[in-house]
Amino acid sequence: MAKHKDREFSQALFDSVQRITGAAAADAALWTVGTLPAGELRKMKQFRFQLLHRWLTEHFAPCRVADIAGGKGLLAYLLQQSGWEAVVIDPSPQGLPDKYKDISSDRRVRVPVSASVPRIDGGFTGQMARHFDMLVGLHAHGCNVAVIEAAAAYGCGFVLLPCCVIDEPFYPPAGVHWLESLAAYAVSKGHTVYSFQLNFKGQNIGLCAPGRCHLRHAGAHDSG
Ligand SMILES: C[S@@+](CC[C@H](N)C(=O)[O-])C[C@H]1O[C@@H](n2cnc3c(N)ncnc32)[C@H](O)[C@@H]1O
Repeated sequence: MAKHKDREFSQALFDSVQRITGAAAADAALWTVGTLPAGELRKMKQFRFQLLHRWLTEHFAPCRVADIAGGKGLLAYLLQQSGWEAVVIDPSPQGLPDKYKDISSDRRVRVPVSASVPRIDGGFTGQMARHFDMLVGLHAHGCNVAVIEAAAAYGCGFVLLPCCVIDEPFYPPAGVHWLESLAAYAVSKGHTVYSFQLNFKGQNIGLCAPGRCHLRHAGAHDSG
C-alpha cells in the first residue's frame, strides 16, 4: 500500500513538473526513448549511476561534462569509458569504487587500480561552468540553483536529479515541492526544460535542459 502511494505521489509530481516546464507530450516522449522496460527496471533500483550513464549516453553525444557532487566518481568513470570528457567536482576527496555492476551484461566489473577520473576537490562555483558543455548533478548537495544559474550564464546544458533542499540559496514556498520550484526557476532563467524519470530507489525524477549539447534523437529542441 505504501509503495502504491509512493508511486502515485511520484507520478503526480512528475506530471506537475511536466506542466511547469510546458513540455509537449511529443517532446516528453523523446526523453524516455530507450529507457528500460518495466520488468527489467524493477531489478535496477540500486544502480543510479549506471542508469543515469545509460540515459545520458542514449540522449546526448559525448561532450565535456562536470559530474557535480560526484562522490566517488563512478558516473564520471562510466562516461569516460563512453568517450565523454568527465570531471568530478566534489569537496570531499574520494577514490573510485573497485568494482561495479554492468547493467547491460549483468556482470560485476573491476575498475582497474590504475584508473582515475579528473577531480576538482572543491565546492562547485558558477565560473567552473565555462570549462564544460554539460553540468550533471545527481543528488548534488546545495548545488542545484547554482547549476541552473551557471548553465544559463555559460550556455551549458544541465541534468539535475535533485533530492533534499539543503544549503540552497532559496527554499520552495509552503505546498510547493522542491522539484517544482527548481523547474519553475530554470524556466524563468530561459532554459528549455524537460523532465524524465529513472527507476532507482530514492529521488529519481530529473530535470534536463540541453543547452548547447548535441542530442542523439532527431526532432528534439537542441537549444535552451
Ligand atoms: C548525497 S551525496 C551525492 C553523491 C553522489 N552524486 C551520489 O549520488 O551518490 C552529496 C555529495 O555532495 C557533495 N557536496 C557537498 N557540497 C558540495 C558543493 N558545494 N559542491 C559540490 N559537491 C558538494 C558531497 O561531498 C557529497 O559527495
